[in-house]
Amino acid sequence: MTGGPLVVLVGPMGSGKSTVGALLAERLGAPYRDTDADIVAAEGREISDIFVEDGEEHFRALERAAVRAAVAEHEGVLALGGGAVLDAGTRELLAGLPVAYLSMDVEEAVRRVGLGAARPLLAVNPRRQWRELMEARRHLYTEVARVVVATDDRTPEEVAQAVLDAL
Ligand code: S3P
Repeated sequence: MTGGPLVVLVGPMGSGKSTVGALLAERLGAPYRDTDADIVAAEGREISDIFVEDGEEHFRALERAAVRAAVAEHEGVLALGGGAVLDAGTRELLAGLPVAYLSMDVEEAVRRVGLGAARPLLAVNPRRQWRELMEARRHLYTEVARVVVATDDRTPEEVAQAVLDAL
């Protein structure tokens, strides 16, 4: 195989993309990359600052460019931000790739991410916002995914194993 990510992880914040991604990278002996980190490095500011200063639409455009570059260059494990699938252009970039959706139900999300003060999209009413967020996104995660792995009752190691078994 020449080029392209070995695994792409999508799913809501708190679903374990970075933890599972690092475990998968270790298991596969491949590098790990995260488009949120790429954006922070390129912009020299935090994602929450990009949201506040320039708005979500601008962030999604930066994210699309980050996904385009990573998909073209990265031969390893790639984790995307939780909202990357909202952008149609980003979804197109994922066509044909080994994408795993780490799913998580709303109650588990509230338990794991809690009040989510550091997460710009969850600052006001976390439970209601989680429900709305998942209603808007669930079908998009499913659309881009080759496999869906439920994370609710699994440890990160078990999720990593399930991803390897399924892909
Ligand atoms: C977002 C998720 C975050 C980050 C940004 C927006 C979202 O990534 O990209 O805060 O819209 O769900 P993680 O899923 O890695 O936390």
